Amino acid sequence: MSHPSGYRWNQFYLDEYAKGKELVHSKEPDKFAVWVSEYLKQENLSGAMILDAGCGEGRNTIFFGKQGFRMHGIDISSPAIDKAKKRVQSDTLTEMVDLRVGDVTNLPYDDNFFDAVYDSFTMEFIPNKEQYVKEVARVLKPQGFYSILTSIPPSKHSVNPSHLRRMLKKDFRVLLTERQSNTSMTFVAERVLDCYVWYFAYGSNLYIPQMLSRVGEWRTSNRAAQGLETDLQR
Ligand SMILES: C[S@@+](CC[C@H](N)C(=O)[O-])C[C@H]1O[C@@H](n2cnc3c(N)ncnc32)[C@H](O)[C@@H]1O
Repeated sequence: MSHPSGYRWNQFYLDEYAKGKELVHSKEPDKFAVWVSEYLKQENLSGAMILDAGCGEGRNTIFFGKQGFRMHGIDISSPAIDKAKKRVQSDTLTEMVDLRVGDVTNLPYDDNFFDAVYDSFTMEFIPNKEQYVKEVARVLKPQGFYSILTSIPPSKHSVNPSHLRRMLKKDFRVLLTERQSNTSMTFVAERVLDCYVWYFAYGSNLYIPQMLSRVGEWRTSNRAAQGLETDLQR
C-alpha cells in the first residue's frame, strides 16, 4: 500500500464488507447521473467517453455504461474496484467499462481524452483539490463537461462552495448559479475551446430536471448572441 489516503479508503471498504455492507449504500445511480446522461445525449454526445472519478463500487459507472457511454472508472481503493469489476462482469458490460485503481490527482489518461468527467461525492474527500481540478482540465477535451455532485456545509466532508468556485474558475467559467436551502450542491462545468464556460448550481437532486431546461435555454440564447460573456462569469 503506497498511498496513505488509499490505505484509509481500502480500510473503510474492507470494514464495511466485513460487516456485510457496502460503503455507498445503494446500487442505484445518483439522480444527478441520470440527469447528466440525459444532458449529454441532448448535446449529441451519445456514446461519449466518460470518466467516473472516484467511482467506488461503480454504481454510476455501470449506469452510464448501460446508457451506451464508453466508461472509465478510477478509484484509489482496490477493494472497491474489485467489487465494481465483479458487478461489471455480471452485467456483461466489460466492453463498455474500463476500471482501474488510481489517484484522481494523478490521472493515468492522455490529455484531451474524455468528453465528460463525472464526480459524485469524491471532491470532498480529496485533500489536494486544486491538483484534482487541474488534472480534470487536462484530460477533458476542449468542449468537455465536468459534473460534480457534492455536499453543502455543515456536512463533515463538505466542500466550501466559494473555495470550489475559486478552484474551478482557473479552468472553467460559471454559466449558471442556483441556490436552495436543502441538502446537496451540484456543479456542471463546461470547457469551451480557449473560452471556458462552467455551470455552477446549488440545488437538491429533485431540482435537477428544472435546472437542465434552464441551462439549455441559457446556452441557446448565449450562443445565439455569439458571446459567452455574462454577469454570472465573475
Ligand atoms: C463517498 S465515495 C463515492 C463513491 C462513488 N462516486 C459513488 O457515488 O458511489 C468516495 C470515493 O472516493 C474515492 N477516493 C478518495 N480519494 C481518492 C483519490 N485521491 N483518487 C481516487 N479516488 C479517491 C474513495 O475510495 C471512495 O470510493
